[in-house]
Amino acid sequence: MPIFCFSLVGQHSHIGYTHGMSDHRFGSDHWTERKLDALGRYLVAWRKIFTANPKAQYFKTLYIDAFAGTGSRKNPLPAEDNNQHKLFDESDLNVEVPDDYRRGSARIALELQSPFDEYIFVEKNPAHASELKQMIATDFPKLADRCRVWEDDGCEVMRQLCTTLKDWNRWRAVAFLDPYGMNVESDLLWRIGQTKGIDLWLLFPLGMGVNRLLTAKGLPHKAFADKLTRVFGDTDWEVEFYRPPGTADMFSHLPAGPEKFTDFDAIGEHYRKRLQRWFAQVAPRVKVLTNSRGNPLYWLFFASANPTGAPTAVRIADYLMDD
Ligand SMILES: C[S@@+](CC[C@H](N)C(=O)[O-])C[C@H]1O[C@@H](n2cnc3c(N)ncnc32)[C@H](O)[C@@H]1O
Repeated sequence: MPIFCFSLVGQHSHIGYTHGMSDHRFGSDHWTERKLDALGRYLVAWRKIFTANPKAQYFKTLYIDAFAGTGSRKNPLPAEDNNQHKLFDESDLNVEVPDDYRRGSARIALELQSPFDEYIFVEKNPAHASELKQMIATDFPKLADRCRVWEDDGCEVMRQLCTTLKDWNRWRAVAFLDPYGMNVESDLLWRIGQTKGIDLWLLFPLGMGVNRLLTAKGLPHKAFADKLTRVFGDTDWEVEFYRPPGTADMFSHLPAGPEKFTDFDAIGEHYRKRLQRWFAQVAPRVKVLTNSRGNPLYWLFFASANPTGAPTAVRIADYLMDD
């Protein structure tokens, strides 16, 4: 079996980094591919705009991956299935990966024919960060001086990028926030919106996090409630998702507490309304990423902070929400 599945294309093709690749696995194959497919196609379109449009050329361009992973993940499917899941035309890609590994978001961004001026990757896990650095050095040496890998908290670095590290009069960025859980809170999203320069792909942990904290009987206990408030930005979720009890608790003389009265769609739409407050525009549709039983785990949102570019950005992103 060859260890490379693509022919060498483009100016910075290299041998795929294999030595020491970890067993980084996340998500089911199907929904992870759908998520990364949208991101990859969006990056191709975004780069085309920033190279073709003379006004856009004024800006320096940045890709931010705040939960970057290793750059690859172990392929859970048999090798013969691989070709059915190619993300792009081969002409959009520049490099090869071993055929039992799939591209992660970092690799997808680095493989673009038209590179960004700068790449910032943040990864908290030291082993993942080290593997990512190694992958960049081995597979993308010509881009290495444009890349920074921070072994840090993605939200903290993102916050600094929004406030002090970049001049948003001069920079435009695409950011990908792809945490496993409920790391991303409303104050960070508000800050991203304030830059007026960032297009954001955001994985919202609807079923994986938020719905689980919304306990069925009675309001969530304080720690969960505080987390939900920080994620949504206010306490409106209490009245949106809970209703007063219809009856007293039959096993107690005390009145029963509020009851959960919501569903996945209502929670996701509630969150969308928050994003609409913080960003110039939000794509009307999302990608609903479900488990094998069809239950939503995540909603993938797109929001643009840039009032001028938002209509075009949202049109492209919304188109990509179609599977
Ligand atoms: C779902 S994976 C990201 C996958 C990546 N986007 C890709 O496509 O390859 C989430 C990553 O975030 C990292 N992580 C977890 N908490 C973090 C934090 N607070 N800051 C930065 N990275 C974090 C994990 O170690 C993991 O590698």
